[in-house]
Amino acid sequence: MVTRDQIVQWLNNLAEVLAENKEYLTDLDSAIGDADHGINMNRGFKKVIEKLPSVADTDIGNILKTTGMTLISSVGGASGPLYGTFFMRSGMALQAKQELDDGDLYQMLESGVEGIVQRGRPVLGDKTMFDAWSPALEALKAATANGDNTITALEKSVMAAEQGMKDTIPMQARKGRASYLGERSIGHQDPGATSSYLMLKTLLETLQAE
Ligand SMILES: Nc1ncnc2c1ncn2[C@@H]1O[C@H](COP(=O)(O)OP(=O)(O)OP(=O)(O)O)[C@@H](O)[C@H]1O
Ligand SMILES: [Mg+2]
Repeated sequence: MVTRDQIVQWLNNLAEVLAENKEYLTDLDSAIGDADHGINMNRGFKKVIEKLPSVADTDIGNILKTTGMTLISSVGGASGPLYGTFFMRSGMALQAKQELDDGDLYQMLESGVEGIVQRGRPVLGDKTMFDAWSPALEALKAATANGDNTITALEKSVMAAEQGMKDTIPMQARKGRASYLGERSIGHQDPGATSSYLMLKTLLETLQAE
């Protein structure tokens, strides 16, 4: 079971991880974008942390929806609406839940990724955050079907996200600003795939810490 407090802890930890990785993500974005991804994510999650105390004692659905709305209102560009939709959708899928079983956890991530797909229309190989999320979801589903416990299943999912993130390096971007570079986008790791990997890895680390 994943508790409401663990979800709140995940978001707090994520804000810290994104602050630590602000320059790294921005450097990645400077190679194929406009050098703002780390700044965007850090700004957005700083706002999320400000908002969290006011909803931390409600339910997981509401906490995630509030996170999504905060990201949409505080982060511009592509990643604000994409991650904002991710959290809005994941929250809508969980409604009044106070804790999550393995099925709920999968539902949370799958609904979030569906939100990204509806919003940005990425397909596999476009060199976006979806290239990290898609294999991560598949691995999580397979591991759960295999009877793995939550931590083991998430470990496999994080490994798949990491591989998916690395696999964006040889891809040519077909979405967002990076696509304007054409072939020159090849050879660089996608910033959004990297922040998505960090997001999932931080979830795993938060649950492992209990
Ligand atoms: N249509 C899309 N679908 C999914 N992900 C996308 C899409 N467009 C961009 N991204 C993701 O967003 C990341 C860039 O986020 P950033 O915070 O830098 O916003 P941005 O500068 O407005 O983006 P961009 O320049 O790509 O429009 C990319 O690395 C990619 O993973
Ligand atoms: Mg950018």
